[in-house]
Amino acid sequence: MKRREFLLGGGAAAGALGLGGFGLAASTQELIIQPASYTLRDQVTAGMVSLSPGAPPPVLYGRQGEVMRLPVRNATSDYTAMHWHGMRIANGMDGVPYLTQMPMGAGELFEYEFTPPDAGTYWYHPHCMTMDQMAHGLTGVMVIAEPEDPGFDSEQVINLRDFRLDERDQFLPPYTKRGAARAGTFGNFQTANWLDGPVYDHSAGGLVRLRVVNTDTTRIYKLHLTGGEARIIAWDGHPVEINIPLPSAEEPLLVGPGQRVDFAVAMPAGEGQTVDLIAKLPGQPARPMAQLRAVGASVARDLQELRPLPVNPVAKPDLARAELREFVFGWTPEGGQPNNGFCGSLGYNFWSINRTPWPGDAAQGVGPLATLEQGKSYVLRLRNESPNLHPIHLHGLAFVPLKSNLRTLPPLMTDTMLLLKDEVAEIALVADNPGDWAFHCHVIEHQKTGLTGFIRVI
Ligand code: C2O
Ligand code: CU
Ligand code: CU
Repeated sequence: MKRREFLLGGGAAAGALGLGGFGLAASTQELIIQPASYTLRDQVTAGMVSLSPGAPPPVLYGRQGEVMRLPVRNATSDYTAMHWHGMRIANGMDGVPYLTQMPMGAGELFEYEFTPPDAGTYWYHPHCMTMDQMAHGLTGVMVIAEPEDPGFDSEQVINLRDFRLDERDQFLPPYTKRGAARAGTFGNFQTANWLDGPVYDHSAGGLVRLRVVNTDTTRIYKLHLTGGEARIIAWDGHPVEINIPLPSAEEPLLVGPGQRVDFAVAMPAGEGQTVDLIAKLPGQPARPMAQLRAVGASVARDLQELRPLPVNPVAKPDLARAELREFVFGWTPEGGQPNNGFCGSLGYNFWSINRTPWPGDAAQGVGPLATLEQGKSYVLRLRNESPNLHPIHLHGLAFVPLKSNLRTLPPLMTDTMLLLKDEVAEIALVADNPGDWAFHCHVIEHQKTGLTGFIRVI
């Protein structure tokens, strides 16, 4: 084992006490976006972006129904703004430049404050200089606890990130023109919590809540677990109310950028045995992204002992009265020159929603893709006219998949849906949160080259 993995393994005692191994409890301490350096592989990688000079962005902990105060200061020389992915909060706290706030210049402070209505696994990332700052590391996990503990012995957060490094472990450019016009530009060094295959200790026979978050800018992970008994208990933050089969090597779980899956894991009884989170990457043998290692005498818990997660208070759409809105995701006819605000442009446009490429962060004169009436139910028909997959994300609202021309979609509440090649899917929601809500692909190269828009709820 490498030295820093060992250190982290030791630190995972904190994990056994309930935190994910590293984290910040809700406090009013400033979150300072700043340059960082870190040994991701062998040499120190410079030019990272985090909330401290030498560590990954911490897990931010909150509690359902309790106010969170998150003062964010920009200590970089670029503009930024922080977004809280999946949180159904007030529009003004959503962190989208020009749409909900002005970009934050160097030294500026923005005091985010909101009360999470939902428990579950969420995450945060910038929405200005998104390509740069995310690719360089600024993606962190948020854990919103249920008011009552479901009965786990410990918890483990896994933040999956793929970095694009050169042979001296320094950053390669985060995007290529070729990648942006296709599936995106992939990293070449896959990490969990910025580590290469970390091992975390948890009580033998104990019940672990494993929260897996794909915060990558590009990669869709194909995941499964080996070595212990497990159950999927939440998907994209929200409790799973139906039985969904556990993924396997043959049928792995597709987890796109922005998506989350929570497993309840029963650790093996034998000391030293592991539960492995396995990923299958194209052209490579399957391998563990992270491992949970059983330590101590078995506490002999059983998955049956867990209390079911309470359902989040998301309104159920009234399908009989829902109005239809259509969205087409595809290439952009012209290519088009994006405008450049303060939030970084890749310099070209390849993508569009409803044939309109988003003209850059400072989008002026672009109206909403749809205007929804507050409190009403809607069906959104999402049509992918491209050969690429798109994790389509809507801010501020949760939606439920209804049907697809390609597959049976389990009705799992979400904020990010992976739209397959040539798929036409219908999703439903209640437009119960007023504001202008960004609606975009979470492959950041697609988002930043046109595949963005917003939906207005009034
Ligand atoms: Cu993860 Cu527009 O956000
Ligand atoms: Cu979001
Ligand atoms: Cu996309």
